Amino acid sequence: MKAITFVTQKGGSGKSTLCISLAVAAQEAGANVCILEMDRQATVSDWAEHRQSETPEVAQVDETQLADVMRVLQGSAYDYVFIDTPGVDSPGTLSAIRAADLCIIPCRPTPADLRAFKPTLAAIYRLEKRFAFVLNQTPPRSYRNRDAADGLAVLGVLPDVNVVARTDHQDAIGLGKGVTEYNPSGQAAQEIRKLWAWIEKRASASTDKRTQVTKHVKAA
Ligand SMILES: Nc1ncnc2c1ncn2[C@@H]1O[C@H](COP(=O)(O)OP(=O)(O)O)[C@@H](O)[C@H]1O
Ligand SMILES: [Mg+2]
Repeated sequence: MKAITFVTQKGGSGKSTLCISLAVAAQEAGANVCILEMDRQATVSDWAEHRQSETPEVAQVDETQLADVMRVLQGSAYDYVFIDTPGVDSPGTLSAIRAADLCIIPCRPTPADLRAFKPTLAAIYRLEKRFAFVLNQTPPRSYRNRDAADGLAVLGVLPDVNVVARTDHQDAIGLGKGVTEYNPSGQAAQEIRKLWAWIEKRASASTDKRTQVTKHVKAA
């Protein structure tokens, strides 16, 4: 089981939106997924209440519960646990980063968003976690995307897909759906499927590396 944490201090950058639609896309790709929600704003729980399907399962947890919940989930049938965090730097955010195999930092191509993730990145570095940025709510084509991508690529890894600002994302969440369920052939759905394929690969790479280190230590 791998944990993927969606994290950045900046509210509105798309943590919950990406967490939800990527969880649904991961399910559609054959994975067992659950979502742990650490944000009291409860965007994901509200979404789940509007949803017809029972999956992905969503549970609210706080920082006092997270480590224990993760320990129990290690032995479960889940392939992925997605952790959605609040838009503030809090003990909960730190524990969610600590629990992660991979942190996803959604970022709009705006100066405010590009400044806002710095404390998050510092915490991720401190805890030696793997991470990737995702450019979200971008214009379809703009020099802004290229400039932001160039800036982010200096600091870390960036997928080969941006998530463009599209109303499908807003409409899907309102109806308790992922964007791939709401409009399967739409461009928003295609971007999310491509993004999930990239994230899945990167999440496996992190585990493989750790397994190798563990093997080496055991062999020594
Ligand atoms: N790619 C996108 N296209 C259009 N709207 C988006 C997109 N990503 C997020 N949004 C919208 O932006 C707002 C904030 O997104 P949200 O996921 O709640 O951010 P966060 O969880 O980081 O605070 C929501 O209204 C959501 O519908
Ligand atoms: Mg949110």
